Amino acid sequence: MRTQVGIVGAGPAGLFLSLLLQREGIESVVVEMHSRKYVEERIRAGVLEQGTVDLMHKLGVGERLKLQGLEHGGIELRFGGRGHRIDFRELTNGKCVTIYAQHEVIKDLIAARLAANRPILFAAENVSVHGLDGERPTIQFQMNGAPEKLECDFIAGCDGFHGISRASIPEEIQHVFSRSYPFGWLGILMQAPPSAQELIYTYHERGFALVSTRSPDLQRLYIQCDPQDDIANWSDAMIVEELQLRLATKDNWQLLVGPIIQKSILAMRSFVIEPMQYGRLFLAGDAAHIVPPTGAKGLNLAVADVRHLARALTMFYKQNRTDLLEAYSTTCLRRVWRAEHFSWWMTSMLHRFLDDDAFQQRMQRSQLDYTVSSRAAATSLAENYVGLPFTW
Ligand code: FAD
Ligand code: DHB
Repeated sequence: MRTQVGIVGAGPAGLFLSLLLQREGIESVVVEMHSRKYVEERIRAGVLEQGTVDLMHKLGVGERLKLQGLEHGGIELRFGGRGHRIDFRELTNGKCVTIYAQHEVIKDLIAARLAANRPILFAAENVSVHGLDGERPTIQFQMNGAPEKLECDFIAGCDGFHGISRASIPEEIQHVFSRSYPFGWLGILMQAPPSAQELIYTYHERGFALVSTRSPDLQRLYIQCDPQDDIANWSDAMIVEELQLRLATKDNWQLLVGPIIQKSILAMRSFVIEPMQYGRLFLAGDAAHIVPPTGAKGLNLAVADVRHLARALTMFYKQNRTDLLEAYSTTCLRRVWRAEHFSWWMTSMLHRFLDDDAFQQRMQRSQLDYTVSSRAAATSLAENYVGLPFTW
């Protein structure tokens, strides 16, 4: 098999890249280790920046998003038993975010790719990449036990944090920056109408809580927890009680409660590898960087990477230019580090750290108070949350 761009991974990064390249007449093959059903049902992020929404429309995959996506023009920061609205539209010249589940985005992208008769090889086994520092890199794998070799001009490593692409870069040229956090998120899907019109980010002495939504009859809720905890230790009743305690307000706000249909615990970390390129391998999305989810940036950052990569590859094929490919890592890392900072800042402001640090708690309360009282501070949160312009 031969193609122009071999893409490892059918997550948001790999699938958006395949459609962006398709639009420019550049061939690609996507090699994915899991089944189509698995990737279409994997519950993850839910907040799309305007740039991500616009890109879906541009690629012709925005029809369901238009019908089912929920536009949110602000968020609430809740602390000390009171809610404070950050008005995105007012602070950012009319911008907003859209709530639409990541696995729905994945379904739309896969459907478009397959409708155009372009390959996604699901359930590929033992995927590996070779010859990265030469002119003809290859992706090798097995399909139904039979060995396959895909020759490429370039390989895009879009295989997430645990993928094989990043690990194929020689260790001596990898510069890794990371931070782990002493807490994780317990996330649930609950069958109940939205408790609020917009997302609620809550700082509470028992720990962070987040109220989000998915549809008119499904809520997505998170609470800060011990990352080592076993989800089996959390009964549904315990989760609901903890949510109610953390979300309680002086004016008796009520959480709408229903059956919990899915629950899991995720760890949180910040991680960046520099550079995001080695020879003819280009890393994009979680393969190159991870943010804690508090700023809702992970998915959007993956999309920004592949927009740069698609443009650089287009310039290579259409105008024989290599400058954008050479600048790929530097170009992406500017936005990556901005998102790393924003996500770390939101996480640090809103979570209870394990040690009982009264000084830090006073700092957090002061930062929250300032953020909701100063137009300058609120604008900074808003413009990062809705997404900085693509020139970043
Ligand atoms: P991924 O979505 O991880 O896609 C990588 C793809 O590569 C996967 O399909 C995987 O199966 C495939 N793959 C892996 N290894 C191989 C291999 N060896 N060969 C072939 N294919 C391979 N962000 C938020 O903003 N908010 C959230 O609430 C949130 N929740 C999350 C919950 C979880 C459990 C996780 C893991 C992430 C969450 N994120 C969240 C982050 C967000 O979902 C990611 O940033 C986003 O999915 C990144 O897209 P990606 O395409 O780079 O990587
Ligand atoms: C959701 C996830 C996030 O990480 C976040 O900051 C806001 C909302 C969600 O899954 O809806």
